[in-house]
Amino acid sequence: MKVKTICCIGAGYVGGPTMAVIALKCPHINVYVVDINQTKIDLWNDENLDNIPVYEPGLKEIVSKTRNKNLFFSTDINLAINKSEMIFVAVNTPTKTYGEGKGMAADLTYVENCAKTIGQLATSDKIVIEKSTLPVRTAEKIKEILKVNSKEDVNFEVLSNPEFLAEGTAIKDLFKSDRVLIGSDQTKSGLLASQSLVEIYENWIPKEKILTTNVWSSELTKLASNAMLAQRISSINSLSALCEKTGADIEEVSNAIGFDKRIGKEFLKSSVGFGGSCFQKDILNLVYLSRHYGLNEVADFWHQVIKINNYQKTRFSKKIINELNGTIKSKKIGILGWAFKKDTNDSRESASIYITKELIDEEAHIYIYDPKVSKKRVLDDIQMLFKSNNYSQTETELKIKNVHVVDDYELCFDHASCISILTEWDEFKEFNWERLIKTMEKQYIIMDGRNLLDKNSMNKITNKYFSIGR
Ligand code: NAD
Ligand code: UGA
Repeated sequence: MKVKTICCIGAGYVGGPTMAVIALKCPHINVYVVDINQTKIDLWNDENLDNIPVYEPGLKEIVSKTRNKNLFFSTDINLAINKSEMIFVAVNTPTKTYGEGKGMAADLTYVENCAKTIGQLATSDKIVIEKSTLPVRTAEKIKEILKVNSKEDVNFEVLSNPEFLAEGTAIKDLFKSDRVLIGSDQTKSGLLASQSLVEIYENWIPKEKILTTNVWSSELTKLASNAMLAQRISSINSLSALCEKTGADIEEVSNAIGFDKRIGKEFLKSSVGFGGSCFQKDILNLVYLSRHYGLNEVADFWHQVIKINNYQKTRFSKKIINELNGTIKSKKIGILGWAFKKDTNDSRESASIYITKELIDEEAHIYIYDPKVSKKRVLDDIQMLFKSNNYSQTETELKIKNVHVVDDYELCFDHASCISILTEWDEFKEFNWERLIKTMEKQYIIMDGRNLLDKNSMNKITNKYFSIGR
């Protein structure tokens, strides 16, 4: 089937960029991106492209070329479903915060709502595509929901087509994907549906990089890929602690390890701990699934990846306190970077949030600078964490009084006892560190949670520069 119209439910970090790229690469296809969040859709339609809700290098240029030509952002979900032959579901699948599986399992409410809506509204056959990251065997549930809610003569095929883009490099990743994965039922209609999706990707992805599998393999591959990537970070971070005890340098160790072709160089950068909306939630989901199937050893193995990540974050905040004579009460601490990595305005699960909370609890005065994350977002992140830790509203308001989000990074340095680099923004490397350090308190420390600065250059201007594992 030659597809002419597609839609994507969910205009977030995945839905927006992936659909923009499909629209660009397939000018013969009309692409509708829909969301229940009116504010978000208004921003996607904002005339000023600097206001689109997702910051990704290269994205606004693509949106400017395609928007209102063959790429449309709207809240009219009914219309989009009816017009489209193919419906991508790219809604959020956060960790459950209630009931059975609380804190571990993926919350599938948003996905189920989409399936119900599609079932109720569809008046012709549809191919429904799982773009969201989902537990293995979710397609079964989706099929069931579509079936019980739909008209008798409408047929659905459910495909799994997980997304592997990383934020900050989303456009690059989408243009030159390592692979595209499409899982389908191994039936005649399933394989035909899979072929229709293959044909869309073939407009720019080489054939040999488009992998087709059964649905369950595709669903599990996505969770497994994220788990394997995060595992590498926890592995190197665990070794960074050993480096600090022994005088080995983690940058040298990871570089030398990475030379082994079987290991490779990617994802061996020691840090203050991985963040982002997916690694933690997907591993917790994998742990939950493994336990569900009675595979406790498997669950324990993957759970350790999260435990080391938490250990790495706590280790960092403890080090700040120790280096400042065991107390940071009323001391000023500047935080450079709030995003969970550079080149994104996303701060979900950023290590910065957790480290800052520890510092606020110790009654430090916090000044935060990030080039892309909004002030509102920073304060919301902190408040949400306090709330989830059962702090009362009054307590939270009191604590937040000691937090200042600034537009000028120099304000973070002025009379500060500590500067913590928590995101690896390139611009931090360009700072005049020698001059800025002079504006700090006499007893100060520089804590580089990203090993961003050149150690030798920093050691020439200060003996109070600390980094991870070196
Ligand atoms: P997001 O929170 O940025 O976007 C999800 C959007 O879905 C939100 O705008 C929300 O309003 C909308 N939504 C929720 N329910 C809806 C409904 N019933 N109808 C219409 N819209 C609805 O999330 P995201 O980061 O884009 O992630 C989406 C999925 O993709 C997740 O499962 C995630 O694990 C996966 N994923 C994310 C990334 C990433 O880099 N962020 C990469 C690969 C995979
Ligand atoms: C990750 C995966 O890389 C994507 O393939 C996947 O599609 C996505 O999750 C998802 O499913 O959401 P993302 O979280 O956007 O992408 O960004 P990463 O580049 O993977 O970084 C995640 C975190 O790990 C960041 O906090 C980053 O700073 C940290 N990191 C990464 C390290 O600490 N060290 C490294 O070597 C690499």
